[in-house]
Parts: sequence; structure tokens; C-alpha cells
Amino acid sequence: MADFKGKNVIVTGGSRGIGLTIAQSFAQAGANVAICATNEQALETAAQTLQPFGGKVFTQTVNVSSPEDCESFVNNVVKEFGSLDILVNNAGITKDNLTVRMSEADWDAVIAVNLKGTFLMSKAALKVMFKKRSGNIVNISSVVGEMGNAGQANYVASKAGMIGLTKTFAKEFGSRGVRVNAVAPGFVQTAMTDALPEDVKEKALSAVALKRFATPQDIAKAVLFLASEDASYITGHVLAVNGGLYM
Ligand SMILES: NC(=O)c1ccc[n+]([C@@H]2O[C@H](COP(=O)([O-])OP(=O)(O)OC[C@H]3O[C@@H](n4cnc5c(N)ncnc54)[C@H](O)[C@@H]3O)[C@@H](O)[C@H]2O)c1
Repeated sequence: MADFKGKNVIVTGGSRGIGLTIAQSFAQAGANVAICATNEQALETAAQTLQPFGGKVFTQTVNVSSPEDCESFVNNVVKEFGSLDILVNNAGITKDNLTVRMSEADWDAVIAVNLKGTFLMSKAALKVMFKKRSGNIVNISSVVGEMGNAGQANYVASKAGMIGLTKTFAKEFGSRGVRVNAVAPGFVQTAMTDALPEDVKEKALSAVALKRFATPQDIAKAVLFLASEDASYITGHVLAVNGGLYM
């Protein structure tokens, strides 16, 4: 595992699920880790799992679709840690429905968190990264952003939009020493997938070459790779972590 000792990392949506595993992996690799999410209680519980690794830990309740929240969070992280090296845009929501039944409010809500939130938090982080002429952004997209998915028009558009943002950011920020990449997970083993009936699980897995769901650790390993010096000449890339579901 790459060494992130002394590196200062933000993981949005780091209170649970994939974001928490990403945050724990960075903490285990020696980083100072700041997490934000919408639920204060969940953030506190998550922070307790990060502290034993010995780096600094910072939490803040943030709505990533608010520019003021994003700026205040980045400013506070810099105050606490001294700088910012890595941003992982992981916060995300779904509000699924077939397009004909999808409300405008549900369309707006998902785009606001997943896509606009990525834009706003990156913009806030860039102020720090541009000044020191180095930095690293990893966006958590999804396989459905590459292949489409019935019943998720808002989510798919947001995740495809994150891929467009990743490539545009890479072109805009490369000359300032900032690399920007995306990870596109397939099915990930979560409480949601655990609760699926066996036959639904089997059907989903039949399309996956590796015949298992990803663990959150599978996703975190890809994020740490892209954020590490091992990926020093990689930018604008979308790393598929989907077990061969889509190639
Ligand atoms: N779970 C999967 O199978 C899967 C597959 C592909 C991609 N992804 C993506 O991975 C990411 C994490 O997924 P997960 O399953 O761990 O989700 P989750 O629902 O378990 O956690 C989402 C996190 O985002 C935070 N969040 C939600 N809205 C926010 C807002 N407005 N401002 C700040 N934080 C906010 C929540 O507080 C929480 O910490 C998401 O972007 C998701 O789209 C998940």
C-alpha cells in the first residue's frame, strides 16, 4: 500500500459506506483525514474509527451542494491540517424512478448533490491546490454513468456528468500540477445489496465476470492508487472497478 504519511485528505460523504472505507484506508496509510456528510451523529461515530490510526481527524456537517458549506469546510481543513493534498468527491444520493414518473424535484436533488457538489467542492479545494501547484482529485462515478440504467435518469446523468467533469478538470488543471481521475464502481456489497433476495442477487451477478460484488475495499484500493505517486502520469482517467460487468 502506498504511503500517505503527512498527506491531508478530504473524503466527502465519509460518514459511512464506501466513503468511510476510503477514509479508513487513507488513515491507515498515514494520512490526516477530513470527512464531511449530512449527519453529525454518523460523522462522530465514523471519526472514532479513524482516530486509532494516529493521524489528525476532522469532521464537519456539510451539504456539498452549498458553495458556502464547501468553502467553509475546505478553509477549516486547511486551518486544522495546514494544507490540502487530496480530495475524494464521494458524496452521492439516488432518487430512482422511470423517467415518465420522475419529478423535477428528484431530478434537481440528485444533480445538485452528485454533480454540482463535485464541481463546488473541487472549486473550493483548487484554491489551495493551485497555490501550491500540486494536488489530486478522485471522483466516485459509477458504471451506470458509462452504460446507462433504466429507472435512474437523474443518477446516470449525474455520474456521466462526473466523467465529463473529470476529463475537463484534468485538461484545465494539469499545468498547475493537479491530477484528476474517476473511479467507476459496479455493484458494491452494501447493506442494500445484502438485503436483496437470492434470485435477484444471482441475476445481477450473472452479468459480472468475477461473479461477486465489489467490497468497499476494492473501491478504496483503486482510489488510493489514483491518489498515489504510483499513478504520477495518470490524469483524466476513468478506472472501471466493476468486476467485468462492463468493458
Ligand atoms: N453502493 C454502490 O453499489 C455504488 C455503486 C457505484 C457508485 N457508488 C457511488 O459511491 C458513492 C458512495 O456510495 P455509498 O453506497 O457508500 O452511499 P451511502 O448512501 O452509504 O453514503 C453516502 C454518503 O454521502 C453523504 N451525503 C449525501 N448527501 C450529501 C450532501 N448533500 N452533502 C454531503 N454529504 C452527503 C451521506 O451523508 C453519506 O455519508 C456515491 O457517490 C455512489 O453514487 C455506489
